[in-house]
Amino acid sequence: MMSFFSFLFSFILLLSLPFSDVFMVEAFTGTYGVNYGRIADNIPKPESVVTLLKAAKIKNTRIYDADHDVLSAFNRSGIEIIISIPNEHLREMSISQDSAIDWVKQNVEPFYPGTQITGVAVGNEVLGGGDMELWEVLVPAVRNVYFALDSLRLANKIEVSSPHSEGVFASTFPPSAGAFKESLLPYMRPLLQFFAQIGTPFYINAYPFLAYMSDPAHIDINYALFQKNPGIYDAKTKLHYDNMFDAQVDAAYAALEKVGFGRMEVIVSETGWASKGDQSEAGANPKNARTYNRNLRKRLLKRKGTPYRPRTPVKAYIFALFNENLKPGPTSERNFGLFKADGSISYNIGFTGLVPSSASSFLGSIKVLQLWVGIISAALVLIMI
Ligand SMILES: *[C@@H]1O[C@H](CO)[C@@H](O)[C@H](O)[C@H]1NC(C)=O
Repeated sequence: MMSFFSFLFSFILLLSLPFSDVFMVEAFTGTYGVNYGRIADNIPKPESVVTLLKAAKIKNTRIYDADHDVLSAFNRSGIEIIISIPNEHLREMSISQDSAIDWVKQNVEPFYPGTQITGVAVGNEVLGGGDMELWEVLVPAVRNVYFALDSLRLANKIEVSSPHSEGVFASTFPPSAGAFKESLLPYMRPLLQFFAQIGTPFYINAYPFLAYMSDPAHIDINYALFQKNPGIYDAKTKLHYDNMFDAQVDAAYAALEKVGFGRMEVIVSETGWASKGDQSEAGANPKNARTYNRNLRKRLLKRKGTPYRPRTPVKAYIFALFNENLKPGPTSERNFGLFKADGSISYNIGFTGLVPSSASSFLGSIKVLQLWVGIISAALVLIMI
């Protein structure tokens, strides 16, 4: 006969098991990842992208869908990948548990674990965007995708998340004033509650580039680019910030704390700087893009925290791997790539491209040297004759 205590024990076990299990999920094991956007008709094939990523020693990536060619190419590559369910599928995912299960069966199960799928991002920038119908379906969609993974025993291996834009904040300056928009709280709170339960961090797309562009007259470009500058002082926390990236991360921590989720980790799901833009897009040039991405990489590889969370190393996914020629919108949108469509580097931050860049100064100087050696030997031959 089952005693009351053994019943109680199994009941407690039942309650605690699924969640203690999923606390082990970690979709991002390094600190430097890259978003592999593919809105282009001229970028390298996924197999070549694996070569490129391996040469660059980039182990963490994210794509914006669940493209099967990419998932096949990444099989046994050792590269970790977060896949995404685009916004237009959220409604369907929210309505039916079966469609979420079907999605996981088609896009995750056949590839896992050969392809190291570490996360499923459900939608992108939903609450920061203007589509209120999507706000309503986000939490149910997230839950259904989680329970679909759980029913296939994958929930303790693959993290369910949903990245936000800076549009979710009512304020971000100074960082301690970070706060969510009041109007979003009815959707944000239950989302955070669920993520806290399953151990998912807060993913934010944070672009000092966009902040600078919106007010170039009042923002020190050096503060946005991690260069030497006076920085800003946050009187409430008595903390000093010498770069905007750290300030944006800490503003997210402050916002989370205000709604009771001060222990949730913040991970930057997108950040980057365009190397080209329209006349109206201040700061979009190769020099600034190189400076931002070079300094950002150095900052991330140090595995350091922020002023407000000094013990939590900042992790970020760079936007993006390639320039994407088919992206709509202003010129900057098509020029965020660390690499050009032909696989060469956009600017030098220490990576090697699939093909040499025409701007490579090292190869250039070798050619100049060869030319001079040629001229001098020709001159010597002439003298000797
Ligand atoms: C991944 O590679 C392994 C070994 O090469 C192979 O057995 C498996 O079928 C591959 N998976 C997919 C989805 O192609």
